[in-house]
Formats: sequence, C-alpha cells, structure tokens
Amino acid sequence: MNKVVLSGVRPTGKQHLGHWIGTLSNWIKLQQEYECFFMVADWHALMSEYRDPSHIREYSFDNVCEWLSYGIDPQRCVIFEQSKVPAHLELFLILSYITPLGWLSRCPTFKEQIKQLKDRDINTYAFLGYPVLQSSDILLYKANFVPVGEDQLPHLELCREIARRFHHIYKKKCFVEPKPLLTSVARLAGLDGRKMSKSYENYIALDEEDSVIEKKILSMITDPARKIKTDKGHPDICNVFAYYTIFKEEDKERVRRLCMSAGRGCKECKKILADSFKSFIGPRREKKKELLRKKDYIRDILKEGNKKANAVASGTLEEVKAAMKI
Ligand code: TRP
Ligand code: SF4
Repeated sequence: MNKVVLSGVRPTGKQHLGHWIGTLSNWIKLQQEYECFFMVADWHALMSEYRDPSHIREYSFDNVCEWLSYGIDPQRCVIFEQSKVPAHLELFLILSYITPLGWLSRCPTFKEQIKQLKDRDINTYAFLGYPVLQSSDILLYKANFVPVGEDQLPHLELCREIARRFHHIYKKKCFVEPKPLLTSVARLAGLDGRKMSKSYENYIALDEEDSVIEKKILSMITDPARKIKTDKGHPDICNVFAYYTIFKEEDKERVRRLCMSAGRGCKECKKILADSFKSFIGPRREKKKELLRKKDYIRDILKEGNKKANAVASGTLEEVKAAMKI
C-alpha cells in the first residue's frame, strides 16, 4: 500500500504566489508518489473568521478550483471538505480529553499567532485547541507524512505526542505517528518586502490578471542606491532578485551579473520577471475561470472526495471508540 499524505489549507482568502511556492507546487509532486488527502480546512478557518464566516464557502470553492487548475488531479488524490466529514469533530473532542493544557499553551505557534492576529480577538477555547483539531485531521487518515513548513513543525510534534499518549492510555495502536515532510522553501516576502499578507495587499494572486501582474511587479522597489541605469546594482538587497532566485532559478546568475555590471536596467529586469509570471499564471487563470463556471462538476468532485474521506475517517473512529470501550 502507498504511504498516505494529508494536508490542508484554510479557506480564508484568495491564494497567492506564497501558497504556490509553499504548498501547492509541493502537493502536485506528492500526488505522483503518495496516496494524498487534500483538505479544505473550513473548521480551521472559523477559528479566525467566526465573526463573519460568510465568505468561507466561497473561498473553499475558489481555492479548490485553483488547486485543480494548477494541476491537482482528482483521479489521483482525495479532495475533501473537513466540515463534511463529521469524524473530525468527534475525534477532536476525544483527543481533547487526553491533551494536557500545558502542551497547548506552551505551543510556540499559539503564542506567536495570538500576537499576530490581535485585531481578530482569537483568545478562545477553540483557538487554543487548534493543534488538537489538526491532529484529528491527520490521525483519522493514518497519514504517514504531512508536508509542513518550519512554522508548523510544533503542531506535528504535538500530534505525535497525542498519538503516543492515546496508545499508552488505551493500550491499542489506532494511529500512525506522522512524520513531517519539510518543505524547505525560503520565505517569500511580499512585493513591498514585508511579510506577504492579505491585509497588506502585497501579493500576486494565483488568478491575477496580466495587467495587474505587470503593474504590481513594476511597482516593486529595487536597490535604492541604483538611481540611474548606469549605476551598478546590488542584487542581494533587491526583492526583485529574491523573486528571481525563487521562481526563475535558472536565470539567477545571469540576472545577478547583468545587475552588478549595470548591463540591464531595473525596469527591464522587472518587465522580464512580470512576463514570466504572466505566462505561468495566464493559462491557469483561464482554466480556473472555466472551472468556476462548471459548478456541478466541482460539486461532484467534492462529493466523491467527501465520500472517500468519510469511509476512511469513520473506520479509524470506530477503532478509537472500540479501544476506549465507548
Ligand atoms: N494549519 C494549517 C494551516 O494553517 C491548515 C491545516 C489544518 C492542516 N489541518 C491540517 C495542514 C492538517 C496540514 C495537516 O495552513
Ligand atoms: Fe534588482 Fe534587477 Fe534592478 Fe538589479 S537590475 S537592482 S536585480 S531590479
């Protein structure tokens, strides 16, 4: 049997190049090799969006269409919605009983996010339990691997500890301890050099129109010491160059040389980058538009995915209940 991978995305907004580089590009490779479960983590979205959850559905649909247009293949993997598989919440509660509070309050991501999302008032019970719900997501499918960035590692460690504690208490091995598949992608800064974020408007969406791509890239700040084209540039302090190193690795050394020898102006340098994003995003954006119109087709994919996910998840839940004699 193929090893299992589970991953999820919270449908809280439009996806951008950060999602492509950090998540989606990786999923596309993983689906060739593993039995993959890709989840719309809509319950998880609620943790930050509970005051106005009205957009979660729309973003779920939007994000799924985007996964498909970027190459996620529903024949190869299971695409499903967390809220359509009730076992997630049942196991979440069960795991809550055996998770010591200290494990959660000491979790670095908890402390970090409380700081970051202070405008959202997320000092809630469910927020503290975020990693427990995530553990439930992972353990239900007996995932061998979870692709994670550095920042999510503590959640995975917590998940492993919860699994071990369950096995220890109930003397029955219902779960698989998941291992991280570390995605070693350098953090992609936003267009303005700050963290890429919805609230800063400093990203390129995965369905961005050509004219907007061009405008956004051309407005990027380059080496501030390079006032005119004959000034030699310093690529290592230029965000445009950072984008080249991530998205156009093959051109990196040439761009560096041209910059340092003043062989190319910043405007031209940005224009070339913008063109490559346009040709990458363009066809995928159009494909997504087509999918957004085929509502029934997408709903069928989700229905099928939810069914498969339910079959696996409810099987694990039965084992869990049996182990607990509940
Ligand atoms: N916590 C992940 C995020 O913030 C989303 C997520 C929910 C997830 N459940 C998961 C990721 C299970 C991996 C595995 O993006
Ligand atoms: Fe940056 Fe390119 Fe200008 Fe060099 S030429 S400073 S890499 S935009």
